[in-house]
Amino acid sequence: MNIEACPKIELHLHLEGAAPPHFIRQIAAEKHEDIGGILAANGDYKFSDFRHFLKVYEAATSVLTSPDDFYRLTREVLQHSASQGVIYTEVFLSPDFCGGCDVTAWQEYLAAIEQAAAQSEPEFGIVAKGIVTCIRHFGPDQARKAARCAAETAGDFIVGFGMGGDELQGKQGDFAYGFDMAREAQLHLTTHAGEWGGAESVRQAVFDLKVERIGHGVQVIDDPALIEELVARQITLEVCPGSNVALGVYPTLDAHPVNDLRSAGVKTTISTDDPPFFHTTLGQEYRQLADTFGWTSKDFIALNKTAAEAAFCSAETRQSLLERLEKT
Ligand code: HPA
Ligand code: ZN
Repeated sequence: MNIEACPKIELHLHLEGAAPPHFIRQIAAEKHEDIGGILAANGDYKFSDFRHFLKVYEAATSVLTSPDDFYRLTREVLQHSASQGVIYTEVFLSPDFCGGCDVTAWQEYLAAIEQAAAQSEPEFGIVAKGIVTCIRHFGPDQARKAARCAAETAGDFIVGFGMGGDELQGKQGDFAYGFDMAREAQLHLTTHAGEWGGAESVRQAVFDLKVERIGHGVQVIDDPALIEELVARQITLEVCPGSNVALGVYPTLDAHPVNDLRSAGVKTTISTDDPPFFHTTLGQEYRQLADTFGWTSKDFIALNKTAAEAAFCSAETRQSLLERLEKT
């Protein structure tokens, strides 16, 4: 199978986390900023564990200070995704990194991101939608501000609200106010859960935040009753195997539960999370899954159909994605 050419749908990609180090280095150089501390001698991002990763991520993001920086980043990221065969992507966008969760500033940054996405659609052949994301370790009050930004800009492009950041800080339910606000604005909901916080964090995401999808979710493998609950509720997991291995959630792909979760009937999709940080691409993820678990083109088409069904887009966009996948 030609994995590069296979049309792909990606549901879990952090915009800033998809910034290649050369891009961040270029922007920093233009602003005469020193970011040497976050880069290894070979130019890659340098971090030792998840908390350190979050710090390096925020340091890299701190060089992006204007709507134009985000315009350039969005073009770069969508061009790269399209080169991997991605035809539809949902990108996590953080108002915290775009003017500090101020609604007016957020609208300016978002206009630049949307313009880049609109230009990329015909040019690179990729449709992009945005999921506004709050950052868990910034706390519930800040998350509420991010939810307000989301609610104020909900529409054709901003289709969802979610939460990333340090899953070991607080409980999912501490953020219910922001998620309720987003739901009332007709936004779809997802949250990072069960990457670091165990199956209990997934349980809280389902029952306390009432999300439709879960970012990662892989640690649900330790709770068979909750697996049944996910299957019954048709909750979709945004699984990012390369991210989990790079950050040490699992030592190897062999030890990763993605194949068992699929076999248990959990709706499963595949994404890259923060690909340059984890030295991965979506094509590489597919190739490694094929090599490790024997997944074939039939499996990848099924995974992408699951992703199309779980996408936060309009019914028309979903239909056109499903038709495109039918043709492969
Ligand atoms: N986990 C949690 N939060 C994040 C991540 C991640 O992998 N990437 C960016 N924010
Ligand atoms: Zn993530």
